[in-house]
Amino acid sequence: MYRIAVIPGDGTGPEVVRESLKVLAAAGRKYNFKYETKDFDFSGERYLKTGKTVDEKDIEEIKKYSAIFLGAVGHPLVKPGILETEVLLKLRFSLDQYINLRPVKLYNDQFCPLKDKKPEDIDFVVVRENSEGLYKGMGEFKEEGTENEVAIQVSYNTRKGVERCIRYAFEYTRKRNKKKKLTLCGKTNVLTYAWDLWQRTFDEVAKEYPDITTDYAHVDATTMWFVKNPEWFDVIVTDNMFGDIITDLGAMIQGGMGIAAGGNINPQGVSMFEPIGGSAPKYTGKNVINPLAAICALGMMLENIGEDKAGKAVEEAVIKIVNTKLKSLAAGKMGYSTTEVGDLVVDNL
Ligand code: IPM
Ligand code: MN
Repeated sequence: MYRIAVIPGDGTGPEVVRESLKVLAAAGRKYNFKYETKDFDFSGERYLKTGKTVDEKDIEEIKKYSAIFLGAVGHPLVKPGILETEVLLKLRFSLDQYINLRPVKLYNDQFCPLKDKKPEDIDFVVVRENSEGLYKGMGEFKEEGTENEVAIQVSYNTRKGVERCIRYAFEYTRKRNKKKKLTLCGKTNVLTYAWDLWQRTFDEVAKEYPDITTDYAHVDATTMWFVKNPEWFDVIVTDNMFGDIITDLGAMIQGGMGIAAGGNINPQGVSMFEPIGGSAPKYTGKNVINPLAAICALGMMLENIGEDKAGKAVEEAVIKIVNTKLKSLAAGKMGYSTTEVGDLVVDNL
């Protein structure tokens, strides 16, 4: 019996979660697993009403679940930074979800903005470090508000943190068993402290994985290759900030935010799955948002909790409808409503 914590959140979050839960129910029937869900109302909405974000008691409670499924958190009336740090990053950090796994996979070349790229050309995974780097929030103002003001923002990288991420990436590349190639994406030519540590750790760990081909690309060049030669990549490992940036570009080349999913993984603990697109306030409540990113995140969640077959089947059903039904992956242009897209996935499953 799996226990799934559900955070519908803000904006279109509840709509895409609702469709995903329909798919979960269908997968449970087909693959014979039992689960219960519980809703957690962490959101901008609740914050505006009560001033509450996520506290230690919430963390203790949510830790007891098999996995967390998140719609989106973000509210136009809440100042930027509050919900991000006190809800999303709080969950990622407190639950030590040190990997952010973001598959970049093109399902249908019709939805790819790159000329002449086919599904076989765009199929890679970004392993983003998810607990350190610039996201650590370390820094200070000096002489704040004066003409001599200095703002310092530190990238914090521990050997342990870097190594566990790199090890995960090597293991993942081996298990994925495609090109068996792992690319370190960094900035060794300028950020000489952080990336020296990353490169050294990468080279050392690589010795334990003779079956994996290794490569290195600077982050700026990586964005260029994403557009020019995405077929070069299999698995990419990078730090938190670079991973954040390159996976938005990754989402675009796989067809947009409507299809891009991710998992915040603690391999020894509770992981959290989410569409990476955010709360999309302008589409809220219109039944036009694409739920497939969330449904793909649900597929990742199923694989993570051990329902591999169900997870793969969910992805197959998504691929099927992307290739046979949808006119576009963008909100309002799919040729179907949010609810209808959910139903199509359920029927195909
Ligand atoms: C993401 C988002 C978050 C991040 C924000 C909302 C804090 O952009 O999941 O990529 O920067 O990690
Ligand atoms: Mn991001």
